[in-house]
Amino acid sequence: MTTSTQPIRAEKLRSEPEIAVGVDNGHGSLKFVISSNSGQTKVRCPSKFKEIFEDLSDYSIVREGNYFYYSNGTRKDLIGREFFTGSLAYSAAPSTHIRLSDNPEYKVEYALHAILGALSTLPHRNKWNLKVALSIHQSQLYKKALIEQIEGEHYVGFTDKFESSSKIAIKVLSVLPEGAGAYAYCRSNLLIDSTQQTIAFDLGTGTIIWQVFAPGGKLIDRGVLTAGGCIDLMDAIAATPLIQRYEGGRTGDIEMIRQGIENSTFNYGTTGINFQDIYATEVTRWLQNRLSMAVKAVTPWMRSTGNLVVWGGGAQLPGLAEALKRHRFTAIPNGAWANAIGLQRIAQGLCDRKRMNHG
Ligand SMILES: Nc1ncnc2c1ncn2[C@@H]1O[C@H](COP(=O)(O)OP(=O)(O)OP(=O)(O)O)[C@@H](O)[C@H]1O
Ligand SMILES: [Mg+2]
Repeated sequence: MTTSTQPIRAEKLRSEPEIAVGVDNGHGSLKFVISSNSGQTKVRCPSKFKEIFEDLSDYSIVREGNYFYYSNGTRKDLIGREFFTGSLAYSAAPSTHIRLSDNPEYKVEYALHAILGALSTLPHRNKWNLKVALSIHQSQLYKKALIEQIEGEHYVGFTDKFESSSKIAIKVLSVLPEGAGAYAYCRSNLLIDSTQQTIAFDLGTGTIIWQVFAPGGKLIDRGVLTAGGCIDLMDAIAATPLIQRYEGGRTGDIEMIRQGIENSTFNYGTTGINFQDIYATEVTRWLQNRLSMAVKAVTPWMRSTGNLVVWGGGAQLPGLAEALKRHRFTAIPNGAWANAIGLQRIAQGLCDRKRMNHG
């Protein structure tokens, strides 16, 4: 048993095989991509957290991952604390869990929580030796703080407090601006002509970001729209009379709306309510307004651009690819994953290069 009072053993994890990881810590969900012997493993977890103060037996929910207990390690402030993450944080505390979108600083503050939550859903290992590439908005501003939050050795239980801990070594290889991974993904899958300038819109949960990349991929300029991301679309659906009537006057449950959109059934949970018609109206309104704001922002570069692309999970919203095509934009297939997959490739490249340099 590992307890919070046990000192960290000076054991090094260097002999453990290095695993290159791409981390895209989004307002709505974490996208976590690791290399493995059989190829690539992708984990997507809602960006939700709930610290546990009560006895776990008070929770009558089934646990499959999405839990961690930090017994010891570099993050002294976390020692002895336990958390539900992802969908479990939502089901344990539907209205009082912490959402990454609650505060812009949370992308840094909860970065390690998100990574540990993702690891908790993977097959158990006693040791992890992770080499990570991450992206964050304003990477220069947040880089140092982000590295401080996640780098080091962490001793963590993924089942309960009393289980022996896994040892997780994390080294940050690169902190990049959001979109750098998605650009790398598009380039390696020949979805863009990288000899040309690229304009990209990232349709995220919380934000819509426009970015301009020079030929070769250097970020020239970026901006965040004042209008919010896909969450605004879901909020609008939640506030329609059809949903509100069912909820007795309150706005609807965003999580149920998200699921109904993502699985293209447009069912509002198991209530029997279908919101497909509402979606069609609201998504058109939502997109028109944002697309014109984004196009206006990139007007100075429009004439000299060879690639017009849209990524982020919003690019996968039902019906959006067709609508974007009418405006000459290409929705990137797998748009929700593009950034994390690209980051994983960047991390892998850095690991491979280091290995070659060291013979
Ligand atoms: N396969 C899919 N089909 C339909 N919608 C999807 C799909 N995957 C993700 N989405 C939706 O796309 C939206 C944006 O998701 P994304 O993962 O890009 O946001 P995020 O990165 O968490 O947020 P942000 O970029 O603002 O930090 C979400 O509302 C999500 O529900
Ligand atoms: Mg995002």
